[in-house]
Amino acid sequence: MNRTGMVLMALFFLTSAASAADAPSVENGMKLFNSSSLGKNDRSCAACHPDGKGLEDASDSDHATMAKIANKCIVKALKGKALGDDSPEMTSLVMYMKTLGKTKSK
Ligand code: HEC
Repeated sequence: MNRTGMVLMALFFLTSAASAADAPSVENGMKLFNSSSLGKNDRSCAACHPDGKGLEDASDSDHATMAKIANKCIVKALKGKALGDDSPEMTSLVMYMKTLGKTKSK
């Protein structure tokens, strides 16, 4: 294998190890939702959506739609940087928000 191939292999193993560590989960989504780490103004999603307030209907939307709205709130409400639609963080957030919708509508 040539040098470039070796570097690519190393990168592949590094990135797959990293994504296993923060694999998307409801739990990670809950942490993000309640933490101020997504923004720059010390607020969290939970500050404006305690117990999922206002998100009951959004959880019926598909992932892309929810990701788009969540990013709007990250950028506008938290002064943060938008997450990639399919990033592990956004996937976790959406997974968590979907559990909120279900508990709320019953
Ligand atoms: C400063 C207050 C504030 C913060 C912080 C905030 N939001 Fe929102 N969010 C709103 C408002 C206002 C709306 C639109 C009106 C509503 O549905 O309550 C909204 C709407 C939404 C919706 C769409 C609801 C619907 O039914 O259309 C989603 C999803 C959402 N926010 C997710 C998030 C996430 C995820 C975070 C954290 C990254 C967050 N919000 C942080 C105020 C906030």
